[in-house]
Amino acid sequence: MPAPNIDTIVSLAKRRGFVFPSSEVYGGLGSAWDYGPLGVEICNNVKEAWWRWLVYERDDIEGIDSSIILNRLVWKYSGHEATFNDWLVDCRKCKGRFRADKIVDNKCPSCGASDWTEARPFNTMLQTKLGAVADDDPTALAYLRPETAQGIFINFLNVQTTMRRKLPFGIAQVGKSFRNEVTPGNFILRTREFEQMEMEYFVAPSAEHSKLVDYWVEQYLEWFSSLGISRENLYLYEVPPEELAHYSKRTVDIMYRYFPEREKPWEELMGIAWRTDFDLSTHSKNKLDEEGKRINPDSTEDLSYFDEPTKQRFYPHVIEPAAGVNRTVLAVLMDAYCEKTNDKGETRVILKLSPQLAPIKAAILPLAKNKPEIVGMAKAIKRSLQPVLRAVYDDTGGIGKLYARQDEVGTPFCVTVDHQSLEDEAVTVRDRDTWEQERIKVTDLAEHLQKRLKPYPVPLAETI
Ligand code: GAP
Repeated sequence: MPAPNIDTIVSLAKRRGFVFPSSEVYGGLGSAWDYGPLGVEICNNVKEAWWRWLVYERDDIEGIDSSIILNRLVWKYSGHEATFNDWLVDCRKCKGRFRADKIVDNKCPSCGASDWTEARPFNTMLQTKLGAVADDDPTALAYLRPETAQGIFINFLNVQTTMRRKLPFGIAQVGKSFRNEVTPGNFILRTREFEQMEMEYFVAPSAEHSKLVDYWVEQYLEWFSSLGISRENLYLYEVPPEELAHYSKRTVDIMYRYFPEREKPWEELMGIAWRTDFDLSTHSKNKLDEEGKRINPDSTEDLSYFDEPTKQRFYPHVIEPAAGVNRTVLAVLMDAYCEKTNDKGETRVILKLSPQLAPIKAAILPLAKNKPEIVGMAKAIKRSLQPVLRAVYDDTGGIGKLYARQDEVGTPFCVTVDHQSLEDEAVTVRDRDTWEQERIKVTDLAEHLQKRLKPYPVPLAETI
């Protein structure tokens, strides 16, 4: 039973320290969010799971971390300066401003009128100025990156040559991106500052690109499943030609059921695009247009690849799986949400997070906080577990309340230290999902928990 709507997660997230509205002491900042003590852990765990899956467990992917602010020319030649636009319309009645493609039935979402201005483009790259320059100095203009991908393309040769890579291989990057969204909203689904996990997979121009898109779609479905997102809440959207980005010949979006209460429940979780050789060739000094003119007179490098077996030089094509950290976290939280009734008839919220994503892996709880021996033993167990897994100590309530609190934040195990523990050097381990308890020797505890916390494996398919 996933969450019935996003609002349920917004309220849980604030109540339990996952996500807070940003800048609240100054009245907030529209659609900006801060990740609290548990939120930062779950984001880190998602990024760590992704990195481990792609960069460590596979043999064909390297990682990088490029600058957020790149030379402005990157965005000129990538096409973002000219085309990274939303189309805006103004309501003549209430003066509201909206994205033209989000208007339903031609009615203003604020006042219901249907009197619109002509649609006009609005570039959504966030601007900044570099250095101590005059406000109107055009040479100081720079952008905060709207995608992490370009930092990968401009480093293609650096990575390929230093790591002695042959095609096919990929480069992965995770980090912040920024877009001046006209209508941000729906909690962390659409914000102006967000995090992406992008991977550019470089292949020969003769590769079977469409099959590779399918391959990566399948791989990501497996990955999302390993994170606990059920397949029935995912939907594949084949992006029609008229909606494709300027660089794409084919894109499949993996959509998640973020709005189960609505008639149209789906919103994009990630996209997998065949970006052709557009990006590497557009940043290259030697690429010529149809009239034999250099398409990029500013570039000092040629990002082509020499293929030893065929003795051919070419610009590799790219298959790009581009996912959002924040949207993955939201999908994970919604899918993990469930309610259970205890034997007193009370409804309890349980976040059935996959163990690898749970912010806290084990909570160590003393049954009697006024018994120094029990408290001392519980604190010592917490300290001994901490080097191998994230553990917390909590004695701020009765045991029922402490269990409920840990269930609600998705902690897989509660470890209770009681009077008997002082005698038999054993503790009670309670399972979050079944509420079953078992007695475990303290000396076996770390190994016992580690075994049960192992991530669900992602089956690796052969690359085609
Ligand atoms: N490099 C390709 C690219 O950036 P995209 O579909 O625009 O493609 C990829 O973005 C992913 O980044 C999206 O599927 C989504 O998960 C995330 N994303 C994009 N814009 C976002 C926003 N304003 N807020 C939160 N996540 C966003």
